[in-house]
Amino acid sequence: MPIAIDAFTSPTLKHLRERWWNDEFTEFLVETLRPRAGNRILDVGCGEGLAEIHIGRLHLSQIRLVGVDLMIERVMVGRHETAAHNQKVGFATADACALPFRDAVFDSTFCVAVLQHIGDVAQAIGEFARVTAAGGRVVAVEPDNSGRYMYSSTAAGRRAADASTQFFRELTSARGDAADATVGPRLPTLFDAHGIEPLSVRLFPVSTTILGTPPESFWTGRKADVEQSIETAPTPAVRAIGRTYLDALDAYAREADAAGSAFVEIQNTMLFATVGQKAA
Ligand SMILES: C[S@@+](CC[C@H](N)C(=O)[O-])C[C@H]1O[C@@H](n2cnc3c(N)ncnc32)[C@H](O)[C@@H]1O
Repeated sequence: MPIAIDAFTSPTLKHLRERWWNDEFTEFLVETLRPRAGNRILDVGCGEGLAEIHIGRLHLSQIRLVGVDLMIERVMVGRHETAAHNQKVGFATADACALPFRDAVFDSTFCVAVLQHIGDVAQAIGEFARVTAAGGRVVAVEPDNSGRYMYSSTAAGRRAADASTQFFRELTSARGDAADATVGPRLPTLFDAHGIEPLSVRLFPVSTTILGTPPESFWTGRKADVEQSIETAPTPAVRAIGRTYLDALDAYAREADAAGSAFVEIQNTMLFATVGQKAA
């Protein structure tokens, strides 16, 4: 059973775009980036090139897409995947906070679910403004992971959700992760501070609903993801919190099983797509 977002396995929307990225989202990006023939468009934190593949399917003529990401392995997958789709995309390894491009060389710049992982968001947005030409669009799509909604029809589900929040909070803190996972709604203010006029904010809900007891494989997958996070926890104290959380998940699985067709789990998170225009 695929689950599009899962607060039980991750504190962010990390690695899950392929599950929620749909045609409506691609159309939104293309409409707001306003690509014209001859344009150069930069995707910061492109990951494995999902945006490039989706935009490439629209066969927009004579635009040049460039994707950069901090992780070389992802850039290599993006290069391979787009080549397999006969698309010409420029890929490079680069840090959003120090983009290796001259000023104003892109007609528009965008990022999806990237700033939530960056410690110095202001520096990154300053870089977006610097490399984008005057009058060009800047689009950033980010969540507010503090505002995730979770409903479970079982008491054990609600307890497991609390245990999950505690585990991921402790894990993030023990890793010294300075990133702001709540950056989504703050983007217009950040744009404004860097000479990018905020034009609009569109909200994209990303939701998932489970009705009736999920199969055992669902719980095995959920627990395997959590176990992976526990393995990477830097301290014994956080690993102990993780194991308590695993016990809470086991109890949740048992109650869900007992509830049968009356079982319900609903999750929702919101993406804030901020569109701005670099001042002339
Ligand atoms: C959640 S993924 C999103 C990937 C892609 N935008 C998508 O929507 O499929 C976040 C990406 O941001 C990249 N990233 C994180 N920090 C970065 C930084 N400082 N500079 C560039 N990329 C970064 C990660 O390597 C990862 O590929």
